[in-house]
Amino acid sequence: MSILRTEGLTKIFEVGLRLRRVTAVDDLSLSVEEGEIFGFVGPNGAGKTTTIKMLMGLIFPTRGRAAIFEAPIPSAEARRRIGYLPEHPAWYEFLTGLEAMELLATLSGLAGAERRRRSEELLGLVGLADAAGRQVRKFSKGMQQRLGIAQALLSDPAFVILDEPMSGLDPVGRREVRDLILELKRRGKTVFFSTHILPDVETLCDRVGVIVGGRLRDVGRIGDLLSPRVRAVELTVIAPEAARAQLAGAAELARDGDRLTVSFPDEPAADAAVRAVLAGGGRLVSLTPHRETLEDFFVRRLGEAAGPRAG
Ligand SMILES: Nc1ncnc2c1ncn2[C@@H]1O[C@H](COP(=O)(O)OP(=O)(O)OP(=O)(O)O)[C@@H](O)[C@H]1O
Ligand SMILES: [Mg+2]
Repeated sequence: MSILRTEGLTKIFEVGLRLRRVTAVDDLSLSVEEGEIFGFVGPNGAGKTTTIKMLMGLIFPTRGRAAIFEAPIPSAEARRRIGYLPEHPAWYEFLTGLEAMELLATLSGLAGAERRRRSEELLGLVGLADAAGRQVRKFSKGMQQRLGIAQALLSDPAFVILDEPMSGLDPVGRREVRDLILELKRRGKTVFFSTHILPDVETLCDRVGVIVGGRLRDVGRIGDLLSPRVRAVELTVIAPEAARAQLAGAAELARDGDRLTVSFPDEPAADAAVRAVLAGGGRLVSLTPHRETLEDFFVRRLGEAAGPRAG
């Protein structure tokens, strides 16, 4: 079942005194299926947050429509079933982590012992049990981000929308949020999150949608989007002088005595070099084929979106 389906979703802002029209989201049609982690990827200003705000009913589409669990947006019915992490969550900073959670739990309709139980349980889930009694203003950025995810889960939503959950986090913080998103999937939730941090997307997402300049450029499984072609083969060998002739055509990346790291543009050239090095009495240390990464793909698509450059 599609958890989310958008059709021709469009948002045009009118800015400035002359009401210049800015198309932030342009004819966006996509669907998110039950149980998947969907990465919504695009550079700054691509239209990710605008899309998410429309899904949340915070701003109205200029054109097009969307439905969440078959309920059209905006509607209380759709809203009720979503957990949402905004791009810039704001806190009453003098509350403790637990107080902040309980306040928001009240707003989502929980009361009494259940409110406390649920708040504590979610703080535990995001690794903040020990910080529950500390004021939110003393939380690190990573802790605040995890608190944001905890509050998004208060109503036990089946669908979780996270706007840039990894932004501003160090590698450890990113890993924690990544693990948390995988845990949500394990618990049967569907996750839609926006980001421009591509390595996170590669390790996490079942499918991605690439949005550039308000338009959805690609959507699919990462493996299907990336070119399977090997772009370069990196070779590290121990090669005495006599065995180096076949390496002449390669780009040298590093050299330490007899130990050489070189890069070949394709596999046959690298294979031939390996045979020659071995025949000459050398040794193979490592051989690494490089395929297109999501980052390569992204840069390629951005280049295509910008069109041919002059000059
Ligand atoms: N309230 C608004 N009024 C006018 N223009 C807006 C408004 N909100 C967003 N925009 C414009 O819409 C475009 C998309 O912005 P949006 O915030 O959706 O991008 P984003 O993909 O979330 O970017 P980022 O990665 O920086 O968060 C930008 O050109 C932005 O300037
Ligand atoms: Mg944004």
